[in-house]
Amino acid sequence: MMPTILAIESSCDDTSAAVIKDGKIGANIVATQAVHEKYGGVVPELASRAHEQNIIPVVSQALLTANITKRDLNAVAFTRGPGLLGALLVGCSFAKSLALGLHIPLIEVNHMQAHILAHFIEEPKPAFPFLCLTVSGGHTQIVLVKDYLQMEILGQTSDDAVGEAFDKSAKLLGLPYPGGPMLDKLAQTGNPDKYSFPIVNMPGYDFSFSGIKTAILNFIKNNTAQNPDFISQNLPDICASIQQALILTLMKKLVLAAQETGIKEIAIAGGVSANSGLRRTIQEYAKIYGWNTYIPAFEYCTDNAAMVAMNAHYKFLAGQFSNQYASPDPRLKMTF
Ligand code: KG4
Ligand code: ZN
Repeated sequence: MMPTILAIESSCDDTSAAVIKDGKIGANIVATQAVHEKYGGVVPELASRAHEQNIIPVVSQALLTANITKRDLNAVAFTRGPGLLGALLVGCSFAKSLALGLHIPLIEVNHMQAHILAHFIEEPKPAFPFLCLTVSGGHTQIVLVKDYLQMEILGQTSDDAVGEAFDKSAKLLGLPYPGGPMLDKLAQTGNPDKYSFPIVNMPGYDFSFSGIKTAILNFIKNNTAQNPDFISQNLPDICASIQQALILTLMKKLVLAAQETGIKEIAIAGGVSANSGLRRTIQEYAKIYGWNTYIPAFEYCTDNAAMVAMNAHYKFLAGQFSNQYASPDPRLKMTF
């Protein structure tokens, strides 16, 4: 049976609902919460309240766009974690109530696995096994993807996520939230070789991004002490140089993992895979190392329910359902 599934994503500051029919996305509605802008970062309590307000309109819009009613659904899926507890709770409670009311199964999804399965929404699709560099605001991982639901984390960050490093760097430069996309935009006209920032080499396939944050802080302090207008006069070059250091830190380990596993199918996923510098770099490396690279469309890089729906589709086919005790888990691990 090819199921019709409604999927809900509410792990952070995007309320999203998607419909998947016969393995094809029929709707993907995302309501981004603007309320956090004036605070310079996501305020968890405000995120929960905004999810509560957005969830019914977003779900209604998804059903309308997919041209179905609730009665056509064969299952309801939701993001169980990782994410913010209060935010996850809204999606979980909504999905659970709807599944109970409709007498259909519930499917829980791991947010990081969903980011990876975003690669199966559109062509071209990677072949198994492939390596996925999963880079978001909360995670930085190199994952060995053996099958749709079989994944192994080869390496990860020991402190900050790379998205966090982008956002914190942007904040130190006085850029408005969300900083990552803004830093990317400014970097496009800058010289990445103008300033040098550390590329930390951790053991194995692991990463560390806390050192670069301190380096940036010192760099700003030292330079603005001599010239108070240093940042505004050199902003594109500073952004390009920071972005290059972050990208090269990621690429160093990705190259190592590709060489040591012998895998040439290479994918990137998560919010930071929207970064234009990373997208360009991965394509350059593909030529050098003979990789086949896979980069999701922008709408499937940052948080969205279509990827949750895709993940739920494969879980449905594998008979992996949740029970009525399903609850959110902010630190949900990828144990597949
Ligand atoms: O996957 P995502 O939407 O949410 C999480 O699961 O965390 O990722 C959000 C992260 C944020 O840190 C954001 O600044 C970063 O992805 N991001 C970017 C870009 N677009 C989003 N970072 C750098 N360049 C971008 N273009
Ligand atoms: Zn995410």
